[in-house]
Amino acid sequence: MNTLVFASNNAHKLEEIHAILADKFEIKSLKEIGCNVDIPETGATFRENAMQKAHYVKEHFGLNCFADDSGLQVEALGGQPGVYSARYAAMHGHRDEPTKDEANMDVLLEKLAAFPSDDIGWKASFRTCIALLYEGEAHYFDGIVEGHIIPEKRGTGGFGYDPIFVPEGYTQTFAELGNDIKNNISHRARAVAQLAAFLRNVSINEK
Ligand code: IMP
Repeated sequence: MNTLVFASNNAHKLEEIHAILADKFEIKSLKEIGCNVDIPETGATFRENAMQKAHYVKEHFGLNCFADDSGLQVEALGGQPGVYSARYAAMHGHRDEPTKDEANMDVLLEKLAAFPSDDIGWKASFRTCIALLYEGEAHYFDGIVEGHIIPEKRGTGGFGYDPIFVPEGYTQTFAELGNDIKNNISHRARAVAQLAAFLRNVSINEK
């Protein structure tokens, strides 16, 4: 079976990819190929960051590889926090307390308080870019979910900015909707579905 590296050590993401692709590809994590470096993500876009990770694996291990990068983009903030979503509070001098996710949401809401909102909140979208390097060719798969940031945190599920994000067409936050619904409509699910469709096609044509 064809080996394909997913340049991640995130157990949840690896499990999701395994469930979709394990019948066609031998999916390996960074740890499984002996890559123990924290691959730098210094790009200005999700696409650059995802490709940086895929390139690193190709260069150092010579294997077909894909990587993802995601984040939240808020319209009133010109697309911020974007590629800085994971470290937004730290960049504004806040310590990761009580948790990194809480601190990130607090900083974002503090900033947004200065901007006018519509009757739901502030327009925003979650985005994922997956970069695939397959047989020397680069391919990109983008997933987007539009919605709003609301002024107060609601719900206990998910992670990151989920308690303050209400996807379009829903009244509950990602943290209230639960994993079953979130995993059907999320930015990541949409990007992964495109990647899976592409790879299924590749594996049919290679037979
Ligand atoms: P990553 O590239 O998937 O690690 O995502 C980077 C950061 O974006 C995370 O640390 C979160 O702050 C934020 N983020 C990405 N996806 C989600 C999501 O589905 N819900 C909430 N926050 C997210």
